[in-house]
Amino acid sequence: MLKIVVCVSGGGTNLQAIIDGVADGSIRNTKIAGVICNNAGAYALKRAENSGIPAFCISPKSFGSRTEFNDAFLQKLDELNPDLIVLAGFLVILPEKMIERYRDRIINIHPSLIPSFCGTGYYGLKVHEAALSRGVKVTGATVHYVDEGTDTGRIIAQKAVEVLEGDTPEILQRRVMEQAEWKILPEAIDKIAAEHE
Ligand code: GAR
Repeated sequence: MLKIVVCVSGGGTNLQAIIDGVADGSIRNTKIAGVICNNAGAYALKRAENSGIPAFCISPKSFGSRTEFNDAFLQKLDELNPDLIVLAGFLVILPEKMIERYRDRIINIHPSLIPSFCGTGYYGLKVHEAALSRGVKVTGATVHYVDEGTDTGRIIAQKAVEVLEGDTPEILQRRVMEQAEWKILPEAIDKIAAEHE
């Protein structure tokens, strides 16, 4: 059984896709041990609670320094003792210690076809704004392992999505989620779980 912890910051639609995948059996051999969120107002926390998954809010605002926040975050992760950490819209720079400790055991979903529209400053709607202003006709999503760089880790899965005439960043974001993110992230977890004894 692959024990996962999902880290979130916002609406949590990718978290929901994981919860649903575990419930309907399309993600096999996997248990969600907990959800960690850095933002007390995030709807993602509600989604976890609604599904009876232990949810923890660890916000930088509750700590005097970044180091204290990082330590509290890492301590919670260690307590939950996951085989895999899934960053599902988690908009926090990870402490280096965490990347070292969980090397090859952290994956992230990014809403573009890496190496386009990724790296520092490219997150959430900003990614789709950049794709539209560049005028690309195809975008998509990528699941990748996390290393010390921003969106530089080994790619696990990608799926292309068409950009259509008249798209706004919000419309494009929704299409990329529906057609790519909510599929390839659960599929990647299922695949990793299958390889995990
Ligand atoms: C998703 O589109 C995810 O790919 C993106 O944030 C959104 C979170 O939505 N992540 C990044 O931009 C990471 N660089 P959600 O909270 O509804 O899953």
